[in-house]
Amino acid sequence: MKSIVVYYSLTENTKFLAKEIAKFVNADLLELKPEKEISKGLTKYLWGGKQVFMKEKPKLNKIDKKIENYDQIFIGTPVWAWTFTPPIRTFLSENKIAGKKVYLFASHEGGLGKTLEDLKKQLENNKQISKIDFYKPLENIEKCKKQIAEWLEIKS
Ligand SMILES: Cc1cc2nc3c(=O)[nH]c(=O)nc-3n(C[C@H](O)[C@H](O)[C@H](O)COP(=O)(O)O)c2cc1C
Repeated sequence: MKSIVVYYSLTENTKFLAKEIAKFVNADLLELKPEKEISKGLTKYLWGGKQVFMKEKPKLNKIDKKIENYDQIFIGTPVWAWTFTPPIRTFLSENKIAGKKVYLFASHEGGLGKTLEDLKKQLENNKQISKIDFYKPLENIEKCKKQIAEWLEIKS
């Protein structure tokens, strides 16, 4: 069973989760990087929020992995304005994912909103979709590691 963890992360929380998950299931890692990244300062809320509301699909750097080669696909996103992030929207529009086992994970600060439902709707043609969310991962490292282990021991 070949697995890949695809994720976007602006401030490293989702990256931490992605790396932990990849270690746990021995998966390849694919970080999505927009060609033009938004600033990590306070303006991120403005520009990031605008991208979400406009349903923008920012252009991503070239991807060096073939998604169709994998059986299990993990997709990780921060929550932006109660949903998944624009780079994930770009990725899903450019990579049709069907017939796979899909695992969704999100990183947030208490306002998960519809992130995982919205993401699930984009991935309906798959065998199985499992999802989990994590609260402020970099402030709750041990708790998140435990959550990951519990999630994947049951699902993998
Ligand atoms: C544009 C923007 C919008 C956000 N909206 C939400 C939100 O709706 N709910 C929430 O809980 N956190 C929100 N956050 C906080 C992030 O989801 C949270 O910090 C997350 O852990 C960041 O992941 P990252 O470090 O991988 O980028 C938002 C952050 C940004 C930059």
